[in-house]
Amino acid sequence: MALSAHIVGWGCYLPERRLPNSELEATLDTTDEWIRTRTGICERRIAADDESTASMAIEAAKRALHVADISSRHVDLVIVATISPEFVFPATACLVQDAIGARQAAAYDISAGCGGFIYALAQADQAIRSGSSRVALVVGAETLSRFVDWEDRGTAVLFGDGAGAVVLQGTEMPGGILGTTLGADGSGVELLYVPAGGARRPACAASVAERQHYLRMDGREVYRFAVRTMERSTREVLAKVDSDVSQVSLLIPHQANGRITDAAARALGLDRSRVMETLEWCGNTGSASIPIALCRAVEDGRILENDLVVLVGFGAGLTWGSAALRWDKVPAAPPSMLRLQYYRARYRLAAARSWSRRLWRRLRTYARARWGQAVDPKGMGDL
Ligand code: UT7
Repeated sequence: MALSAHIVGWGCYLPERRLPNSELEATLDTTDEWIRTRTGICERRIAADDESTASMAIEAAKRALHVADISSRHVDLVIVATISPEFVFPATACLVQDAIGARQAAAYDISAGCGGFIYALAQADQAIRSGSSRVALVVGAETLSRFVDWEDRGTAVLFGDGAGAVVLQGTEMPGGILGTTLGADGSGVELLYVPAGGARRPACAASVAERQHYLRMDGREVYRFAVRTMERSTREVLAKVDSDVSQVSLLIPHQANGRITDAAARALGLDRSRVMETLEWCGNTGSASIPIALCRAVEDGRILENDLVVLVGFGAGLTWGSAALRWDKVPAAPPSMLRLQYYRARYRLAAARSWSRRLWRRLRTYARARWGQAVDPKGMGDL
C-alpha cells in the first residue's frame, strides 16, 4: 500500500541573544521606525560565539525527535536545508546525523535559498512515498549573522539566526503531506548571493578586503519576485491537491518582510488571521523560517487536527516551493508484540541456518580427512 509522510515531531531552537532595532540604530544609518514599517521586524536572534548552524540544527532535531517519541536509531534520512553551512563541505547534515546517533541514516544538505526547507521536505516526502525511507528528519538551520555585512543597512537589519526541524514518518494512513511544488529561475542568481568564497572567487586577501564574503542583495527585485511567486506557488500546490484557498486553515510563508506577506495574503484573498508571522521577534532566518513558524503555530494552537496547512517559500537562486499538508499527528507506534516475535523468530532461524552450515563444513572436512574425496551425500557442494 502507498505510504504517506506525516509530520510526527517538530522542534526549533533560537539563540538567547536578542538584537533589537534600537541597537542597530547605534551602528547603522537606520531607525527603529524605518525597520518596523518597511519590514515588520522588531528584533532578531544572534548566535553566540560557541553556536553555529550545526549546533542549532542538532538542538532543533533533538527537540523534534523528542516530540515524535522516536529513537534516532529509526531515522533513515537526515536532510539539512541551509545557505550558511558549517563548512563548504562536508554537509552540515552529517554533523547532525552523528550528533543525534542516527547510525542508519543517509545525510545531505540542500542549498535552495530561504525556500530550502520546502525543497528538503519535498525530497523527504518522495523518499517516504517511494519506500526508500520510513523516518526522515528535515531541518532548516542558519547562522546568517556570520554572512551579513554589518555595515550594509540594506541587509543587516533583516536577517537572524535559528533552526527548526520536523520528523516525517511514513504510514499507510492517508493525509500528511498531500503535495509539493518546486521551481527555480537561475537567471536571478546575482540578485541575492555571496560573491566570494566559492570556486569562482576563492578567498584571498583582496576578496576579504572588498567584503565579498558577505551577502549581497537587490532588495527591490527580490521583493517583486517574492510577491509574484508566493501567490502563484500557493495556488499551484492547492490545485495539485484538488483544494482551493477557501479551504486553507493556515498559510505559513517564508518570513522575509511583512509587506511581502501582506501583499501575498491580499492577492490570495486570505484574511491575516489565517497567515502565520514570526518576523517581528526573529527576523528573516532563511531556511529556518518556515519550520520555526510551523513550530510556533503548533505550540500556539493555531493548527488543529485535520487543518489544511500550506507552507510557501522563496529565496536565493532564485527558487520557490510550496507544500500542502493535512495536519494529523500520527502517534509513533512502537513495534507490536506480534512483530517483535516475528523478528525474533527470523533471527533464530538465521542463526540456526548458519550453525547447521558450520556443522556440515566440519563434518565434511572430517570425512574427507578420514575417507577421501567422495563424501557429499546431499550434493551440497561448498556451502
Ligand atoms: O529571504 C529572501 C530574501 N530577502 C527578501 O525577501 C527581501 C526582499 N526585499 C525587501 O524586503 C525590501 O526590498 C527591503 C526591506 C530590503 C528594502 O525595502 P524597500 O521598501 O524595498 O526599500 P528600498 O530598497 O526601495 O529603499 C528605499 C530607501 C532607499 O533610500 P533612497 O535611495 O530612497 O534614498 C534605501 O537606501 O530606503 C533606504 N534604506 C534604508 N533606510 C533606513 C534601505 N535600507 C534602509 C535601512 N534604514 N535599514
